Amino acid sequence: MSSPTVVIGSDHAGFDLKTAVTRHLQETGFEIKDLGARSKESCDYPLVAGDVCREVLTSGHPGILICGTGMGMSMAANRFPGIRAALCTNEYLARMTRAHNDANVLCLGSRVLGDELAKSIVDVFLASDFEGERHQRRIKQIETLNANS
Ligand code: RB5
Repeated sequence: MSSPTVVIGSDHAGFDLKTAVTRHLQETGFEIKDLGARSKESCDYPLVAGDVCREVLTSGHPGILICGTGMGMSMAANRFPGIRAALCTNEYLARMTRAHNDANVLCLGSRVLGDELAKSIVDVFLASDFEGERHQRRIKQIETLNANS
């Protein structure tokens, strides 16, 4: 059986945490598809968010996006229909956003979280399941929301 895959990306501010999370996930048996950044040289987080979200949508694999706060990545990622990106600062949020929102992208702030907490949040996110039922209806409502209705 092939290993589960996670798609990951960061900007320059998230580069070190991306490296730490990637190593952690590889040690725990995940395949990592790393879509950059490749260094700590300044880069634009929306472009990386776009690359990761397109890969999540085509592959069905979960995504992780890391910037300094996690906020820019989550704003950019949530522009994509079908992406439900959740900025999580603790394990409770990570569990609940999988259970109730079926989040498919986890956003982390490298300037907010220590490496160990970030790894623990990632573990909980990837191990938690969507509960379905009434939450499925609400997700459909998110997908069809627009300014007119
Ligand atoms: C980069 O300085 C910073 O703005 C970026 O990493 C992120 O925090 C944006 O939301």
